Amino acid sequence: MADHYELEKKQFTETFGSGGEIRVVRAPGRVNLIGEHTDYNDGFVFPMAIEPHVLITFRARADGHVRLATTIFPGQIAEFSLNQKIAIGQPKWANYSKGMAAMLVGAGIPLVGMDAMLSNTLPMGGGLSSSAALEVGTGRALLALAGTDVTGAMLKKLPEFCTCPACSQKARDGVKLDSLWSHSGADPKSVLALMGQRAEHEFGGTPSGIMDQTIVSAGRAGTAMLMDCRDLSKQFIPIDPAALRVVIANSMVNHELSGGEYAERRSQCEEGAAFFNARALRDVTMEQVNAAHGKLPEIVFKRCRHVVGEISRATEAAKQLVAKSYDRVGELMVQSHNSLRDDYEVSTDELDYLVVESMKIDGVYGARMTGGGFGGCIVALVKPDRVDALVSHLNAVYPTKVGKKPEIYVTTATDGAKVVE
Ligand code: GLA
Repeated sequence: MADHYELEKKQFTETFGSGGEIRVVRAPGRVNLIGEHTDYNDGFVFPMAIEPHVLITFRARADGHVRLATTIFPGQIAEFSLNQKIAIGQPKWANYSKGMAAMLVGAGIPLVGMDAMLSNTLPMGGGLSSSAALEVGTGRALLALAGTDVTGAMLKKLPEFCTCPACSQKARDGVKLDSLWSHSGADPKSVLALMGQRAEHEFGGTPSGIMDQTIVSAGRAGTAMLMDCRDLSKQFIPIDPAALRVVIANSMVNHELSGGEYAERRSQCEEGAAFFNARALRDVTMEQVNAAHGKLPEIVFKRCRHVVGEISRATEAAKQLVAKSYDRVGELMVQSHNSLRDDYEVSTDELDYLVVESMKIDGVYGARMTGGGFGGCIVALVKPDRVDALVSHLNAVYPTKVGKKPEIYVTTATDGAKVVE
């Protein structure tokens, strides 16, 4: 498909000039079917890579510099050298790519300079992991030019612990931090994800878990990925296209996880785990949580009840999907939403409204907010012949209630980030 990326190449050459070999990486966004705010509790998540994506159109440079442009902010160019310390700066959108370049340089990979044009069908800040797509996609582009891939052993060259403000604070509070070194046996796609996660912490300002970068890096077409976030093991579970469609509706309310609420939820979970004397909430049962009512601060109790319940909902949903018990998967999704709304308190009125309205449509098995919350998207699992009914219903009711048109994506599961040309 030599001409497939003609538009992107045109945009690239208009900015960087013609000549040389121009290549393209596609990095997908992600939607999480269930298992929310469980990844940093060593729990299970069940995301898939989606059709909306970031494309990185790129070419080697001989001088060790990286120049980045984006179709979102025409005219802005971010430039840095691979031979000097790479630091956070302006424009903000370039920091995710810079962070990944810094990790690869730190890992000892002899990188080649690059000109790159970023373009996307994935909304930025829409809660579909645009930042993870930028991190992992940039990593894939730089590795392609270097003609190599990452290995687990390379993690040992990076500083053992993250230096982002949230992790540094945790270290000062005496909370045990995850060491990157402990994953040195991981496969290359997971290693790139771990580097992307570190980039997100240190350059993106959000102390995220490992879900987004992993699914963006390791997703497989036609499947959702049940991942154990403690040991990074993955099970790929087919989503039968004859029986199911995944529909995503963007509430169009801005989603910003670096605002502090996300880090606050993480530390409340750590407080909970410390109360139970557990390594993570993954190791705590619902009986223990219930027995702690009145002993734990109420807010920490609620956070623990969400996480412990959500971990078992995620594993059960994966089993029920295999068994084709879609009604049950849907019920679990709605329970997940209610728990995120009431116990974890990361939903918004707009997301709640989209879920309630989706569930009114016959043929919608389940719906819930997806991703970190505080805006962003909902995900619904729908019978294929009922997708149109759902989409027209949401398009009709949402603007009347909220004054904005929702952006709606009907998507299959795609492959993770890779060179496509
Ligand atoms: C964000 C983070 C993920 C995960 C989700 C909530 O997307 O980047 O690591 O914690 O929120 O499940």
